[in-house]
Formats: sequence, C-alpha cells, structure tokens
Amino acid sequence: MDKVLKFQEENKQRFLDELFELLKIPSISADSAYFKDLLHCADTIAENFKQSGLDKVQVCKTNGNPVVYGEKIVSSSLPTVLIYGHYDVQPADPLDLWYSDPFKPVIKKTNIHPEGAIFARGSADDKGQWFMHVKALESLIKTDSLPCNVKVIIEGEEEVGSVNLEEFLKANIKKLSCDIILISDTHIFSNKVPTVTTGLRGLSYVEVMVEGPNRDLHSGLYGGAVPNPINILSKMIASLIDENGKITIKGFYDNVVELSKKDREEINKLPFDEESFKKSIGLRGTEGEAGYNSFERTSIRPTLDVNGIWGGYIGEGSKTVIPSKAYAKISMRLVPNQNSNEITRLFTEYFISIAPESVKVTVTPHHGGNGYVLPTSDPGYIAAKKAMEKTFETETLPYRTGGSIPIVTLFEEILGAKSVLMGFGLDSDAIHSPNEHYGLFNFYKGIETIPYFLQYYVESKKS
Ligand code: BES
Ligand code: MN
Ligand code: MN
Repeated sequence: MDKVLKFQEENKQRFLDELFELLKIPSISADSAYFKDLLHCADTIAENFKQSGLDKVQVCKTNGNPVVYGEKIVSSSLPTVLIYGHYDVQPADPLDLWYSDPFKPVIKKTNIHPEGAIFARGSADDKGQWFMHVKALESLIKTDSLPCNVKVIIEGEEEVGSVNLEEFLKANIKKLSCDIILISDTHIFSNKVPTVTTGLRGLSYVEVMVEGPNRDLHSGLYGGAVPNPINILSKMIASLIDENGKITIKGFYDNVVELSKKDREEINKLPFDEESFKKSIGLRGTEGEAGYNSFERTSIRPTLDVNGIWGGYIGEGSKTVIPSKAYAKISMRLVPNQNSNEITRLFTEYFISIAPESVKVTVTPHHGGNGYVLPTSDPGYIAAKKAMEKTFETETLPYRTGGSIPIVTLFEEILGAKSVLMGFGLDSDAIHSPNEHYGLFNFYKGIETIPYFLQYYVESKKS
C-alpha cells in the first residue's frame, strides 16, 4: 500500500484541482434550464475517468440525464466491486444565504474543519464523495496495485428520484454484474467517531390539493358560510400526527419492525448528545414520537413532514380573500420493511377519508423508495469497518441514518448485490442547504480508506 499512499500524497493538489473543475458545473437536475450543464458535467467526468486509467468509458444515454460508466477488469477470477455516485446536485437557492458563489468552490476553515473545507454546491452531496473513488482507483491503477475488478457508474438524476436508472439497470444487468456495491453518499458520525452506514430510510412523497369554491371569494361577502381550503387543509394536516407524535394514518405502522433490545443498544452506542444536537441547529427544544430519543426518531422511526404549503394571498400588505385552492407537499420517511407504494396508497385513502364533504381532495404521488439495512455480518460491512479502523485508527461503529437513497434497494432487487454505504461526510456539511461544504480531511481520508476496503474485501472472499 506504500506506493499507493505515496502516489496520493504526490498528487494531492491535482486531485483537488480536478474536483474544483467538476464543482464549477451547475449540474442541477431539478431544473430543466441546466440540462446542458448536466451533459457537460457527464462529459467532463468521462474525460477524468479516462485520464484516471479506467477502460470502456462511456457516457450512456437514458431517457433523462446520462449515466457515466467506466471499468477496470483485472481478472475474471477476482471479485467485482461496483461503485455508484451521482453528479447531479440540488438547486442552490436561496442564493442570498451563501457566503460565496455556490459554483465557485473556495476553501475556508471552520470550527469543525480546522484544516479547511470546500464550500460549493455538490461538494459533499455527492461530487466530492464519489470523486474520492475515482482518485483512489487512479492511485491503484497507476501503481499496478488494483486488487479486484471495479466498475463505476455515476448517474445524473439521484436528486430527482433516479427515475431513469431502474431502466438502465435492467438493460445492463450483465454489464453491471458485481459482488458488491460501494457508495459514498452518506456521512459518518463525526471525524472522531467513524461509522459505516447500515441503514437508510425509505421515502413516500405526495402533493395534496384541497379545492373549495370554484373561484377566489371576497372573505367579507362569503366568509363564514363557505369552506376555506387553507383552513381545512391545515386542520387535516394537523390531525395526521397525534399528541404522542404517532402518525394517525390507518395501517401506517403495520409493517414497522421494532428493533431488538440488542440492536437498539447497538445504535445507541454512538455518543449522540441532545444538547449539542439542539445547539447545532439553533433549536429551543426537540419533539417527536413518544418512547424514542431524538437519535432514534431520526433514524429507526418513520416520520411525516410538510415540506411546503401554499395558497391564497402572500404578497405585500393584505388582501381579504378566501382562496379557491390550497396545496401542500408532504414527505414520509419510512423504515425498512415499510413499502413506499403501499404507504402512498394508505396515505391517499386516509387523507381523502378525513376530508369534509364540502371540499374536493386530490393526492398526487411523487417519487419514493424503500428503506435499507446492511447486516453487520455482511462481508462488505466487515471490510468497510476494518478499512476505516485502519485509517482513522479508532473503533468504527454501525450507523443507521435518516436520509434516503432509493436506488440502493433496486440494486439489491435488480443486480442481486448488497450496497455498502461508506460515506465520509458530516451531518454539519449543510447538504441541500446554503453553504454546503466538504472537509479536506474527509476528502483525503476517503481516498486513503477506499483502497483498504478493496483489499480487505478481496481477502475476505479468498478465505
Ligand atoms: N446523499 C443523500 C442521502 C443521504 C445523505 C443519506 C446523508 C444519508 C445521509 C441523497 O442525495 C439525497 O438527498 N436523497 C434524498 C432522496 C431523493 C429521492 C431525493 C433524500 O434523502 O431526501
Ligand atoms: Mn446524495
Ligand atoms: Mn442529496
């Protein structure tokens, strides 16, 4: 491993410069105005793959944004690791809350990152993270040290639900065949407490519309006798969670598996601190489902949140009006074993059932996905834990986190392979927020750790 680490040390600055080039491209998948930037980003990645020594590099067309593919096959007798990441990013707004341009990366020191962090949209989610793999592979390939076969796919639609990736997987089952999938698109507990993510939550996302009168009405002439869609929508939404923090949708908890005492103890080994949690996001108090602590509420329990609500007059001054329609976007984070489509169906039935007869309610489903668990007995988990313990020089624990990467369960269904979530971000990286950043320590630690993962994984397959 010495020559690999030496190569990395000598090329440190170049790795960073190359990442900066990618971060300058506004590859925002949610907004069609950026389609050209997504294509440009995919081409730039393909070029980087080639220079890094990957073979069969290809920008693969889909019905949406392309998938970039590359591979290095050493021998058919060796295991194959598939690396996945996404080059699309979330919109950067609100722009006025950024201290620097989201697409002009800069390095700044913070309390958590005394050695500096890269500030740019996509630095942690996910360009800075999958790029570690490309550079780790380059350091292995160029020193003739790659211990197994690798395939890499970087997609461009993760932030909008990976809608075309399922078809891509189905059409390329053989090309993508592998023993295990390795993903860096999550975070560790802290730079002092490294973790391997062993669970992700699923997601069901819906948009609801409540319609009352056939036009906006004068609230003096009509108010008092007609249903106000915003009043009604608010009441309906408020009733979805009871005083114990339980979601009231019929059947919602039917498939939720309670963690065993042992598993619950295991996840609570992480030094979660309620006070610093509150402080880090400026909260006066936390709240949630009775019987669970904040850490459990954000990881092993399902939730329901309104993401946006609108209708009526929100301009300057006041306008006396009863709006004709009211809307909300609602997300439910699910735990493994809850089925996203089933939950969307239960939500729809229930939400329509609680509406008063005076209004019409429509529920439109958005994308979603199922939750995921990786058993700590899986060879992939064991190799990741060992690799992180080698480079962080401290015990590595399993970590179930609250975010979602819906494609992970599809990888399992379509490619028949488990995913190891070895992300290197921190929850303070402000992903999806203004001032997203990724620590230089984390970036370089990832590049250093990935070769060990491959080595340990191959060794575990030999024995
Ligand atoms: N990388 C995140 C997911 C994530 C981050 C998981 C940190 C665990 C820890 C991913 O890009 C993401 O944002 N996923 C979306 C879901 C998607 C369908 C839009 C999410 O979790 O909201
Ligand atoms: Mn991501
Ligand atoms: Mn994301």
